[in-house]
Amino acid sequence: MATKKFAGVSPYKRQHTHPDSDYTFKDFLNNVSLVSDKPGKKPPVVGAIFGLGRAGSIHFTSIVRNPRIVMKYVVDDRPEKFAELKSFWDLSDDVIFLTSKESDRVYKDKSVNVVFIGSPTYTHHAIVVNCIANNKDVFCEKPIAENIEDTRKCFDAAKAKGRILFAAFNRRFDPAYRNLKNKVREGTVGHVQIVKVTARDSPLPSIEYLASSGGVFHDCLVHDFDMACWVLGELPNKVQATATALIPEIKAINDFDNIAFLLTFPSGAIAIGDNSRYSAYGYDQRLEVFGDKGMIKVENEKPTHSTEYVIGQEGVNSFVIAD
Ligand SMILES: NC(=O)c1ccc[n+]([C@@H]2O[C@H](COP(=O)([O-])OP(=O)(O)OC[C@H]3O[C@@H](n4cnc5c(N)ncnc54)[C@H](O)[C@@H]3O)[C@@H](O)[C@H]2O)c1
Repeated sequence: MATKKFAGVSPYKRQHTHPDSDYTFKDFLNNVSLVSDKPGKKPPVVGAIFGLGRAGSIHFTSIVRNPRIVMKYVVDDRPEKFAELKSFWDLSDDVIFLTSKESDRVYKDKSVNVVFIGSPTYTHHAIVVNCIANNKDVFCEKPIAENIEDTRKCFDAAKAKGRILFAAFNRRFDPAYRNLKNKVREGTVGHVQIVKVTARDSPLPSIEYLASSGGVFHDCLVHDFDMACWVLGELPNKVQATATALIPEIKAINDFDNIAFLLTFPSGAIAIGDNSRYSAYGYDQRLEVFGDKGMIKVENEKPTHSTEYVIGQEGVNSFVIAD
C-alpha cells in the first residue's frame, strides 16, 4: 500500500500516453490511424545515387523503400557488381546503371530532381557542382568538398540557384543526439563545463578507402568537432590533439587510428574527445554533457537492447558481442 497514494488518473483519461520524443511510437500511431503530416500530395521526386558502397548502401536502404522517390540512375565504378546490385536491391529494369564516365547522362536528364552522393570524398565537389549547375537538389555525404573555399562556393551556388544542398552529418539527425542538444540549449544541465565525445568506428575500413579519405581528422574527427560545436553553439578558441597509429597498415599510409583531443571554448566549456578507427565490439558513439546543474548523455541505439544482460545462478552476465 506504500505507493497507492501516488496513483494518478486512469490512463484512459490521460492526454499523454507516451513521451513526445518517442518518434517510433508516434509513427506507429500515425500509421495505424492513417494520420499524415505530409503537406499535400506531391508527385514522387526522380533520383540518382552516386556510389553504392558503405555509406551509399545505408542511404539506399531508406531511399528504395520510400514511395516518394523513383530511382532512375545508379552510378558506381564497379560495373562488375551491377547485376548483383540490381538483384540484391530488387530494382526494376527501369533503373539505369552507369559508371562515373557516363555521369553526364544524369546531369543532363531534366527529369532528375534529386541526387544522393555516397561516392569517395575526392569525387564530391565535382558531382555537387555539376548537379547544382543542372538544377538538382543534392544530398551529399560529408564532406561537400576537400577545402573550406570549395565547400562555401558549393553552398553559394546552391543558394543562387534556389537548390537544396544537404550535408549528411548523420549524428545531427539521430533523435537521441538532437534531443540532447535541445536539452542543453534549454539549460537542463546549466552552464556547460565538460563535453565528452566518444567515437569508435566499425567495421575497419579498407586501406584503399583510408588512403583516399583525406585522413582521419577530415574523415572521422570532423563529426566529433561538429558535435561539440553544434551542442555548445560556439567555436573553440583553442584546439589540442594527440594521435597515434597502432595498426601498421594505417601507419604505413601516414595516417592515425587513435586520437584524443581537447577543445576549449570562449564560454569556458572544454570538450574532450576520443576517436578510434577500429572498435572490436562494433560502432560505438557516445556524447556526455556535464554542467553546473547536472549531466546528460546519449549512446547509439542498441539493436540487442533486450539481451544486454542476463541474470543467472552465477549472477549478472553482460553480453559480450565481440568474439
Ligand atoms: N556520415 C558518415 O558517418 C559516413 C560514414 C561512412 C562514409 N561516409 C562518407 O561516404 C563517402 C563514401 O564512403 P564509403 O565508406 O561508402 O566508401 P566505399 O569505398 O565503401 O564506397 C564508395 C563507392 O563509390 C563508388 N565510386 C567511386 N568513384 C565514383 C564516382 N566518381 N561516381 C560514383 N561512384 C563512385 C565506388 O565504386 C564504391 O562503390 C565518403 O565521402 C565518406 O566520407 C560518411
